[in-house]
Amino acid sequence: MRLTIAIDGPAAAGKGTLSRALAEAFGLAHLDTGLIYRATGRRTLDGTPPLEAAQTLSAADLEADDLRTPDVARAASVVAALPEVRAALVDFQRAFARRSGGAVLDGRDIGTVICPEAEVKFFVTASDQVRAERRFAELRDSGHEVTLDGVLKDLRERDARDSARAAAPMMPAEDAVVLDTSGLAIDAVVAEAIRLVTEKT
Ligand code: C5P
Repeated sequence: MRLTIAIDGPAAAGKGTLSRALAEAFGLAHLDTGLIYRATGRRTLDGTPPLEAAQTLSAADLEADDLRTPDVARAASVVAALPEVRAALVDFQRAFARRSGGAVLDGRDIGTVICPEAEVKFFVTASDQVRAERRFAELRDSGHEVTLDGVLKDLRERDARDSARAAAPMMPAEDAVVLDTSGLAIDAVVAEAIRLVTEKT
């Protein structure tokens, strides 16, 4: 059976770590779809119109080294609210999901829009405070000048925009398993997710 795992949830909830761990455990390819929106948003900061940025995105754009900055995250969520931008990025993501060896995709609308037929869906979440602390530590450790309050404010603003937009808003799919990682070590979250995937496949 070709296995597709869909992982959605707000920023800094642990989607990336969980996705990489599941991809490794089950021998699947992994696509971080947030990177596609970040790369698109990044290009608009240089003055490229959003739709053009999405339509002409190249592999090199996905490898730019400043995709993890707060400014790019904000630009990503602004372009991600535009239906025409989302439409331009759908085929690439669905083609990736159909790879013969199976795949893990993580983002905001994977279980609801990109891969509604995925065999396993997770919605990974955590409290605002815990997520802000994690993202703050990551940004600080990679040399960014940030404050915990600033990071918390940015996350809340971005989550609000991602949840309130009309086009593919962030929400758990009806058949998603919700994992709250607030009080859990990542190892425990990964172990629980591996158990659930094994049980469902
Ligand atoms: O996951 P990450 O924080 O890198 O995503 C950056 C932004 O890209 C999100 O805040 C969201 O606006 C957008 N995004 C999206 N749909 C996805 C993945 C990301 O709208 N599947």
